[in-house]
Amino acid sequence: MTTPLLELRQLRAAYGRAQVLFGIDLSVSMGEVVTLLGRNGMGRSTTVKCLSGLLPVTGGTMTFNQQRTELLPSFEIARLGLGLVPEGRQVFPNLTVKENLVATARVRPNNALEPWTLARVYRFFPRLQERENHLGSQLSGGEQQMLAIGRALMTNPSLMVLDEATEGLAPLIRAEIWQALAGLKAEGLSMMVIDKNLKPLLELADRHFVIEKGAIVWSGDSQALRANSTIVHEYLGV
Ligand SMILES: Nc1ncnc2c1ncn2[C@@H]1O[C@H](COP(=O)(O)OP(=O)(O)O)[C@@H](O)[C@H]1O
Ligand SMILES: [Mg+2]
Repeated sequence: MTTPLLELRQLRAAYGRAQVLFGIDLSVSMGEVVTLLGRNGMGRSTTVKCLSGLLPVTGGTMTFNQQRTELLPSFEIARLGLGLVPEGRQVFPNLTVKENLVATARVRPNNALEPWTLARVYRFFPRLQERENHLGSQLSGGEQQMLAIGRALMTNPSLMVLDEATEGLAPLIRAEIWQALAGLKAEGLSMMVIDKNLKPLLELADRHFVIEKGAIVWSGDSQALRANSTIVHEYLGV
């Protein structure tokens, strides 16, 4: 048994007095792509905020890259190799594309994956090179999303977490994002993907975790999820 890259055990979290996570258990193995599925408001983004250190946990444990992280600030979790593509993209509007990419860049020599550099990100998303000197605020939604992913890659993460990366994008651009994620998976990047589009997730991901009111109610691989129309209907509303 290899130890998982990320493991959450009985993770709890609250906004003030309102408890939102009631004991999340999940794990991601090295090279694995998992999803966090659920309807709006069930706690997917809250889980992401906890595992990236943006929201303090009120209970449970998080282990990432063999270190306990539930008490660490976000910059230290990022330094351990967590690359976040946050909900709403959050690119720096007043920095250029290039500045956005280098702002949080990091070299992680221990990472077994091929290192990401500015040149490599530009090869991966040629559109970003074309827009190199444009401000974040001048980009289209799709370009901003590529920038958000490129920025996360520039930290050379061992786990990339994407929260609704295709939200609000036109179908063609969406397809480009899915294709990019498939390419990243093929080279061994571990990912946690949150998205409303089940079909591409079934193709991309190895395992799925279904969250309902702040707890994991089901997990399994794509084949098991495809076969389980009750889960899909009851918890995902599709
Ligand atoms: N900043 C916040 N303050 C208070 N409540 C919040 C905040 N963010 C989210 N919530 C609440 O926490 C619950 C889970 O939200 P969230 O994790 O964002 O859901 P999801 O990402 O699955 O749609 C929802 O009931 C939501 O209203
Ligand atoms: Mg969300």
